[in-house]
Amino acid sequence: MTAHSLNSDVDQQPSNTVAPRKEEQRPVGPVITLCDAAVERGGRRLWSGLNLTIAAGEFVAVLGPNGVGKSTLIQVILGALPLIEGEVRVLGGPAGRANERIGYLPQRRSFDPSLRVRGRDIVRLGLDGHRWGLPLPAWWPWPGGTARRATTARVEEVINLVGASAYADRPIGELSGGEQQRLLIAQALAPAPDLLLLDEPLDSLDLPNQAAVAALIARICRAQRVAVIMVAHDVNPILSHLDTVVYLAPGGSKIGSPREVITGPTLTELFGTPIEVLTASDGRLVVIGHPVRCQGHAERHTWQEP
Ligand SMILES: Nc1ncnc2c1ncn2[C@@H]1O[C@H](COP(=O)(O)OP(=O)(O)OP(=O)(O)O)[C@@H](O)[C@H]1O
Ligand SMILES: [Mg+2]
Repeated sequence: MTAHSLNSDVDQQPSNTVAPRKEEQRPVGPVITLCDAAVERGGRRLWSGLNLTIAAGEFVAVLGPNGVGKSTLIQVILGALPLIEGEVRVLGGPAGRANERIGYLPQRRSFDPSLRVRGRDIVRLGLDGHRWGLPLPAWWPWPGGTARRATTARVEEVINLVGASAYADRPIGELSGGEQQRLLIAQALAPAPDLLLLDEPLDSLDLPNQAAVAALIARICRAQRVAVIMVAHDVNPILSHLDTVVYLAPGGSKIGSPREVITGPTLTELFGTPIEVLTASDGRLVVIGHPVRCQGHAERHTWQEP
C-alpha cells in the first residue's frame, strides 16, 4: 500500500482489503438492545422511549443537534451512565460487562503539540489493555508464538489498514488533526472489536478523507461483521454505507433507514417546524428550514442548510 498523508489525493487513500472473519468468530444474537430506554443528565431528561436493536455487521449513524444526547447514548452503551428507565444489553449482557470487545473513539480528541509519543505507540495502547483489561481476543492468531510479536504485527496491520504508515513513527503531537484521527481509529480497531463506537470520527477530516475513512469503516463493518455506531454531523459521507439512522431531536427520536428517517415529514414532526428534505443530483441530502435554535448545529451540517 502507498503510504501517504491525509492531505493527499483520493486515489492515494488506503486500499487494503479487510479479511473476512470466520463464522464462529461472529457474535451470536443482537449486539445492542435498548428497550424503552430513557436517560437524564443534570436533572434534565434527554431522551426516552428509545427502542433499538443492532445486529452484527450493521452500520448505524446517530444524528441530531448539539446537546441532544448523542454522546450520552454512547456512554450508556459503554455502561458509564445508567438509564433511568428501560433496559440496555450489549453483547449479550449488561452494558459495561463486555467493554473489552468494544472499540471506542471518543469525541474531541486532541494531543498536546509537545507530546513526543509516537503514533504507533498510541495505536498500541488499544492492545495493551490499559482501558478494558484484555490484550488480544482469545481467537487472535499469534504469529511467531509470542504475545509481543503478535501485538507488534497487529499494530502494523491496523496502521496499514487506515493508511497511516507514512507518519506512524512521528510524534503524535506534531501530526495534523486528520492524521491523529486515523491513528485513533487504528487504536479502536486494534483489538478486533465486535462493536465500534465512533463519536464524530470524521471531524477534522477534509471531504475526500471523510469519504475514504467512511468507506474504510464500512468495509470493516461488512467484512468482519463489526457493528458500527457512528455519531455524525454530516450524514452525506456515510449515507451510501448506512443501514440505520437514529435521529435524536428535542421533540423525540426516530429510527429507521436513512430514507425513512431523513424526510421532510419526519423532521417536521421531530422539530415541530416545517422542514423540507431535497435530494441533490449526486444523491446528497439537503435539509431546508432547520429551526433557529439549531442553527449552530446546522452550520456544521452540509445537509442542513437554512
Ligand atoms: N457530566 C455531565 N453532567 C451534566 N450534564 C451533562 C454532562 N455531560 C453532558 N451533559 C449535558 O447533557 C446534554 C447532552 O450532552 P451530549 O454530550 O450527549 O450531547 P451531544 O448530542 O453529543 O452534543 P454534541 O453534538 O455537541 O456533541 C448536554 O446538554 C450536556 O450539557
Ligand atoms: Mg457529542
